[in-house]
Amino acid sequence: MSKTLKVGLIGCGNVVNYGHRPALTGLPGVELVALADITLARRAIGADWFNLNDGQLYADYHDLLGIDEIEAVVIAVPQKFRPPIVLDAFAAGKHVLSEKPISNVPALADQLVRAAAEADLKMAMVHNYHFLPEFRGIKRLLDQGLIGDIRVAMLHFLGVIDYPGAAEYQADWRHTLAAGGGVLMDMIHAVYLAEWLVGAEAQQVMAFVDAPEYAQRKPVIEDLALLQIAFPNAYAAIHMGWGEGVGGADISGSDGQIRLRYKQYQSGGFNQPIELYSVDSDWQRTDHAIANLEEHLDNTARSFTELWADFRDAIRHDREPIAPAAAGARALQIVLGAYASAVTGRVVSLPLDEASPVYQKGIAGIVELDAWADSKTKAAGLFGLRD
Ligand SMILES: NC(=O)c1ccc[n+]([C@@H]2O[C@H](COP(=O)([O-])OP(=O)(O)OC[C@H]3O[C@@H](n4cnc5c(N)ncnc54)[C@H](O)[C@@H]3O)[C@@H](O)[C@H]2O)c1
Repeated sequence: MSKTLKVGLIGCGNVVNYGHRPALTGLPGVELVALADITLARRAIGADWFNLNDGQLYADYHDLLGIDEIEAVVIAVPQKFRPPIVLDAFAAGKHVLSEKPISNVPALADQLVRAAAEADLKMAMVHNYHFLPEFRGIKRLLDQGLIGDIRVAMLHFLGVIDYPGAAEYQADWRHTLAAGGGVLMDMIHAVYLAEWLVGAEAQQVMAFVDAPEYAQRKPVIEDLALLQIAFPNAYAAIHMGWGEGVGGADISGSDGQIRLRYKQYQSGGFNQPIELYSVDSDWQRTDHAIANLEEHLDNTARSFTELWADFRDAIRHDREPIAPAAAGARALQIVLGAYASAVTGRVVSLPLDEASPVYQKGIAGIVELDAWADSKTKAAGLFGLRD
């Protein structure tokens, strides 16, 4: 057994509780030795969770990066603050596991991809939905060629629960422009899943982006995003919303279909998947078992633990993790491309034009685009487009 991976945690919010905590307290070969958070109360909570003493707690992450025995850091602060921390971690010689999205700004995301390569260090994304049993099941069926060539992947996430951030910090940060976008940016999981299931890189995106659920609150970011993505030989549709709505997935292939449903048509990944079945070209149905169905509430924790095992092994065996930084950068470009499409009324080619304000500034660049007079996004006053 190779030596234990000593880890530092930067940002001890809600995702740590239900995701990283089970991994960092249960996975062999990984040990949390220090924690940094700017909020005193969150440091105290983290000390309790991980049984750390005062000497292992830091208000300033730079001090944590100075600890020699730490080989890798997990960075789970809100995305706006992550890029400089990632660069500092590389400068200190640490591997990085980054929460999603990689950044709010495509130019910064590409900078991180380059910095990891130059430092010869791993940068892995927390793209934990790869490890949820229902999506792993779909991927396995596709890889087996069960429905032939994939044609259209429809991912429905219209019932995403709008969880606030930690009360001791700023619970509502996801509803500010600093979040870089709304439900689509937050649930970028669906976007990287689309690329992974299709097995190719996206070429074009078009979208409607609106805020009907929060219309009374003068929202600045979206709660509804309906997008279509073109790949070289396939398409994907993502239907994403905070509130109540249909969840699941419908995948069409040259030789059949795959369908995933959650209990009461809820959305993944916190809810219980209840059926995964395929239909062949003769309309014969086959039901497929989804691993761990009975213990679905543990699936989130388990997905993070498996992701941490992948990160640990990527470092130990000097191989790429399942979701390297480049996958995070591509997913971010699809999200920003969708926002740009909704505002301009045009299909957006990917990768984004590096001269585009959206590539350079993320959502802050939206106001510099030539907005379409009939844009629903503009009418809703999102992304700084309020008159
Ligand atoms: N992979 C997933 O399934 C998943 C789930 C939830 C959240 N997330 C991501 O994790 C990140 C955090 O989300 P959350 O819900 O835990 O947020 P949160 O608001 O609950 O926690 C953020 C924490 O970061 C701390 N912080 C802020 N700035 C800091 C700094 N400069 N240095 C150190 N600590 C700092 C805050 O004090 C707080 O404890 C977000 O990027 C979010 O997108 C991922």
